[in-house]
Amino acid sequence: MPTFIPHSLYAQVITNLFIITLIIGGLIFLIVAGSVTYIIFRYREKPGQAEPQQNFGQLKLEIAWTVTPGIILLVLFILTLRTMGQANPAAAQNPAQPDIVIIAHQWWWEVHYPKTGVVTANEIHIPAGKAYYTEVESADVIHDFWVPELGPKVDAIPGHPNYRTIEADKAGTYLGTCAEYCGAQHAWMRIRVIAQSQADFDAWTKAQLKVPQTPTSGLAADGAKYFIQGACVACHTIAGTNAKGNVGPDLTHVAERETIGAGVLDNTPGNLATWITNPQAIKPGNHMPNLNLPTSEVQALVAYLEALK
Ligand code: CUA
Repeated sequence: MPTFIPHSLYAQVITNLFIITLIIGGLIFLIVAGSVTYIIFRYREKPGQAEPQQNFGQLKLEIAWTVTPGIILLVLFILTLRTMGQANPAAAQNPAQPDIVIIAHQWWWEVHYPKTGVVTANEIHIPAGKAYYTEVESADVIHDFWVPELGPKVDAIPGHPNYRTIEADKAGTYLGTCAEYCGAQHAWMRIRVIAQSQADFDAWTKAQLKVPQTPTSGLAADGAKYFIQGACVACHTIAGTNAKGNVGPDLTHVAERETIGAGVLDNTPGNLATWITNPQAIKPGNHMPNLNLPTSEVQALVAYLEALK
């Protein structure tokens, strides 16, 4: 995550403030460390030297070293207030309808697009160069949504939605992570923001809204049967089936995602099989139990999930 390579206005203003602060801090360090070094050598005791004259109280000096840091802090305070306003403009607060609603869970991200009805997880598609009003909240504990290249952190707090604007200046994949300790798998709560051209984004939206056909023959059909009649439906949703759970990610188009387990594994058939065989071995403590499924059932489930495009 290249934290200091901004790809949106909202990240740019933060980087600017960081650089200004770094320069001011760097100058203070050079002045203080340089003066100390100079004084150590210039005024060190020489053999036979009498005790130097003792001073008590230097009013002008004391005023100077009190007022100067005060002014520096005041300048940084004003710059910080300005940056906070620019990084999260008032216009973006509480929009009539957000473009994206992100709900943090232990340990994954639920993603809704209220204007189109798309539901996905962990991978957030946006059109490049367009400001997307985003609502961030939580289903359980406090998390923090952070994609450094795109803007400031946003606390995900249960019962208290926060609003930010997400925008990427050009197409690309921008990585983020949960930035507030939220339990055992806090580290595996990754975010991928995939910024696309408007045409690609529209195509993606259209594909996401398509209800996938439930396979009727072959291994994938067996997998669909295991999924729909098994424990999977208690926690996952697949559009067009009776699977309507919300404990884990919506799997309607899981085959189109780049990763599984909120970034813990690349989304390949082999990794999907490894995950289903024992999710606890990959991401200990996550809310998907080891169901001790026989290999044949795992293979069928993988075939089904791979068909969900
Ligand atoms: Cu979610 Cu840390």
